[in-house]
Amino acid sequence: MGIILQNVSLLRTDPYPWNVLIEKGVIRAVSQEPLAGGEAVVDGAGRLLVPGFVDLHTHLREPGFEDKETIASGTLAAAKGGYIKICAMPNTDPVPDSPKRVKEILKLLQDRASIPVEVVAAATVSRAGRVASPAGALRAAGAIALSDDGSGIQDLTVLTEVLKQCKGASLPYFSHCEDRELAAGGIFQDTFPGEAEVKALKRELEAVRKTGARYHLCHISTAESVELVAAAKAEGLKVTAEVTPHHLLLSTEMVSEWGPLYKVNPPLRPEADRIALIQGLKEGIIDCIATDHAPHTAAEKALPIEEAPFGISGIELSFPMLYSGLVLTGEISLRRVLDALITKPRKILGNPQPRLELAEGDPADLTLLDLALIQEVRAETMVSRGKNTPFLGQKLQGWPVLTLVSGRIVWQAEVLS
Ligand code: DOR
Ligand code: ZN
Repeated sequence: MGIILQNVSLLRTDPYPWNVLIEKGVIRAVSQEPLAGGEAVVDGAGRLLVPGFVDLHTHLREPGFEDKETIASGTLAAAKGGYIKICAMPNTDPVPDSPKRVKEILKLLQDRASIPVEVVAAATVSRAGRVASPAGALRAAGAIALSDDGSGIQDLTVLTEVLKQCKGASLPYFSHCEDRELAAGGIFQDTFPGEAEVKALKRELEAVRKTGARYHLCHISTAESVELVAAAKAEGLKVTAEVTPHHLLLSTEMVSEWGPLYKVNPPLRPEADRIALIQGLKEGIIDCIATDHAPHTAAEKALPIEEAPFGISGIELSFPMLYSGLVLTGEISLRRVLDALITKPRKILGNPQPRLELAEGDPADLTLLDLALIQEVRAETMVSRGKNTPFLGQKLQGWPVLTLVSGRIVWQAEVLS
């Protein structure tokens, strides 16, 4: 019934080799001596064992858009990506804007998800941006945050009411921060400028100041937003921010042939913004990395650029993207990337003292990383239904090879078996 992970490296002063005994959902023993008691033994072969990743921003698409993704395919893709918990965004059909709908989704998740999923409920009724949802009742039903992700709330009175309700219910608001007028009809940076985010962020921070609510900025994309978040934090507002792997790795200067696979909201920004995002992440102004995993069908992404939907599928690629694109290039340390995938999102979800260093008694929610493994990104090997990533065909280094939730193996890569 127990599992022993042998010869793993840990983020400790003495990194290698360790043996880890997992029993009844927790780490029972960590030792450099041989361990007994586990029935299954996995040879870790020097790979790095860390607490599993947590994603604050995943689109699972079920209910309503199962041709793009299902709870089963999306949570398996997350497990493959090293995630032990994700937060499902509310742009589904029906929209979880009532306690009944939240409970229905939780039931579906219980039956179909391969890893734990938290529910982000809609901030406004039908995500229409007009009437604030009942935050207290949504929290009682099990929601952990409110958001209208996919679109921003334009009416400041409505947003202020949402934030008041969130504050009263002790829920954070996850903001898709976008000024509709400045974004209108835009696709890429040239027609959908960074000011659409900046203008809305300035307005929203006013409402945060007024209400004292907890505000989490989704998919930050501009240098000016980083400055605004830094100032808000310095002022003592309860503001956190996430950045996506694609905004950290890609800029307008890098793309020569624009097509639907690069169409994402917010759009990819100029290199100066990308550098400011990396710097903001290094300095802790940006707290965490979230995927904004946005799977779409091949048919939808084959539409003319104006009609193709926004979004990049990426939850099973985030670590290899970040490791290859930022750590191996020396732009950011492995520890900071892990912190942004592991400890910071746990903190935002309310875990007071998350750690990277594993110890006896810790929950066995774990990811084993093979930092030397190089694999090509191929549609055939992606388990998400959405193969819509501009990283197709690229060789990436550093892959999760084993994921455990409460001591149970939820993903094991072929290289391990
Ligand atoms: O690119 C995006 N896709 N951005 C969003 O905010 C929503 C997401 C989606 O649901 O496809
Ligand atoms: Zn969004």
